[in-house]
Amino acid sequence: MILSARGVHHSFGPVHALRGVDIDILPGEALAIMGPSGSGKSTLLHVLAGVIAADAGTVDFDGHRTSDMTEAERAQLRLREFGFVFQFGQLLPDLIAVDNVAVPLMLAGMGRREAEDAARAELDELGVGPIAGKYPGEMSGGEAQRVAVARALVSRPRVLFADEPTGSLDSLAAEQVMDVMTGVARDGGTTVVLVTHDPRTASYAQREVVVRDGQITTGAVLSEA
Ligand SMILES: Nc1ncnc2c1ncn2[C@@H]1O[C@H](COP(=O)(O)OP(=O)(O)O)[C@@H](O)[C@H]1O
Ligand SMILES: [Mg+2]
Repeated sequence: MILSARGVHHSFGPVHALRGVDIDILPGEALAIMGPSGSGKSTLLHVLAGVIAADAGTVDFDGHRTSDMTEAERAQLRLREFGFVFQFGQLLPDLIAVDNVAVPLMLAGMGRREAEDAARAELDELGVGPIAGKYPGEMSGGEAQRVAVARALVSRPRVLFADEPTGSLDSLAAEQVMDVMTGVARDGGTTVVLVTHDPRTASYAQREVVVRDGQITTGAVLSEA
């Protein structure tokens, strides 16, 4: 397993968002986490990615118990090992596409020239090379989302976490984003954890689990056979 959670509980004040979730994720697979709005999908994604610490239970990533780590250790882990895509690209509005994608590389210590070359190559792979010089305000929703995927994948993360990545797109743009995102992730051996309530988006995954009222369907735990 690349990710495993056992007995995870999490509350926001009186709201018991996760009520004992067990889940396993295999290296290199694309897993869709489905379920109605408010069921706990985003909370589960955030716990798996170490964005929030669970109130109870364990989370393991690649043999490391991330649920025992400090906030700072989890932040380092996220920077090194994980990529994130959200519903709205959340690109930096004052930077052109290539600079948006180069930022995480430069934060990790890469020089500007090398980072921009890598960013351009990643934009090419995602089919948005021609808009490398555009600002987010000049892009369509689908273009902006592909740039966001390029930024998430450019540092070659082990796991890509995507939360409703097509939620703000029309169906054609959604298809293009899912095609390139899952294609590039597959080619790089990247594990994908995809939260969506849209069955068409989920169909890009190899496996689906369903969250309801903070609990997950049976079948989310795999045997290590
Ligand atoms: N930061 C927060 N503060 C308070 N309540 C929250 C917060 N985040 C989520 N919740 C609540 O936790 C429950 C699960 O939310 P969430 O995981 O975002 O569901 P989903 O992603 O499936 O729509 C909901 O009842 C939601 O209102
Ligand atoms: Mg959500």
